[in-house]
Amino acid sequence: MTDEKSTVVSHEEIGSGYRRLVVEAPALAEAVTPGQFVHVRVPALEASALRRPFSVFDAEGGRITILYKEVGRGTAALGQVRPGDALNVMGPLGRGFPEKCDGAALLVGGGYGVAPLYFLAKRLVASGAAAGPVKLFAGGRTKADLLAIDRFEALGGVEVRLATNDGSAGVKGLVTDPLDDELISLRNAGSRFEIFACGPDPMLRAVAMRATGTGAKGWISMDRHMICGVGVCYACIQKTVRGNSRCCVEGPVFAAEDLVWD
Ligand SMILES: Cc1cc2nc3c(=O)[nH]c(=O)nc-3n(C[C@H](O)[C@H](O)[C@H](O)COP(=O)(O)OP(=O)(O)OC[C@H]3O[C@@H](n4cnc5c(N)ncnc54)[C@H](O)[C@@H]3O)c2cc1C
Ligand code: FES
Repeated sequence: MTDEKSTVVSHEEIGSGYRRLVVEAPALAEAVTPGQFVHVRVPALEASALRRPFSVFDAEGGRITILYKEVGRGTAALGQVRPGDALNVMGPLGRGFPEKCDGAALLVGGGYGVAPLYFLAKRLVASGAAAGPVKLFAGGRTKADLLAIDRFEALGGVEVRLATNDGSAGVKGLVTDPLDDELISLRNAGSRFEIFACGPDPMLRAVAMRATGTGAKGWISMDRHMICGVGVCYACIQKTVRGNSRCCVEGPVFAAEDLVWD
């Protein structure tokens, strides 16, 4: 883990309150694996709440990319950083996704939840470590919430299925609708699969239930409020069958069968 003083390379709006931030952070980019996160010290925030956690969307050539949505004062302040600015980025943190898959790899993302799934898809495609096809199921309220779909398609070898609440892209409904169709055809074919998911809690719960209900492995990236990011403050507790776990250390990726939902 490094606490790297990195330099902002680019920072751009990608529509509907989402931004893409690229920073030069060689040690981090070398070490990070899909599903791990970085804790970014946001300039212009008071000392009590300096950092915000973000998944790594991509890591290549000594640089890491994050995709984020402006939701409050931390992400609004982060929006002010400019190319050439120094940015303190701590990481890689937490436990990520397994980088192999026994069967088809079903990647299920909601909103900015596709961020760690892109990094995972890229690694799985490059390594051939999935013993079946790699498929992305992305969902959002509208088309504008479906992020980086062109990047997944450009990987070559990732099948993409979309769902939006308003029907502006893909099927009208929830991301679990196309996922359920896929689960039925996989079951009919007797094919093995694993599910990898990141997104809002209701989606994660629905996906985790499908993984445990079908007896497949599910890997669920939980999104919890964090303060320290390194296991000290216990702000990010997730209930599991083994008791309380810290999302920033034992997670953010948990096995579906280990999660306890309130
Ligand atoms: C492991 C991990 C990975 C993440 N990866 C990404 C990512 O790739 N892209 C991205 O845009 N965001 C990501 N997040 C969420 C991001 O950290 C929060 O959106 C951010 O910290 C909000 O800070 P803020 O000061 O702008 O919002 P605040 O002012 O703190 O809150 C504004 C609103 O956002 C909600 N909120 C705050 N933190 C979270 C959170 N962790 N999860 C859900 N809602 C939250 C609050 O309840 C409130 O409604 C991740 C969070 C975790 C824990
Ligand atoms: S954020 Fe402090 S223990 Fe996880």
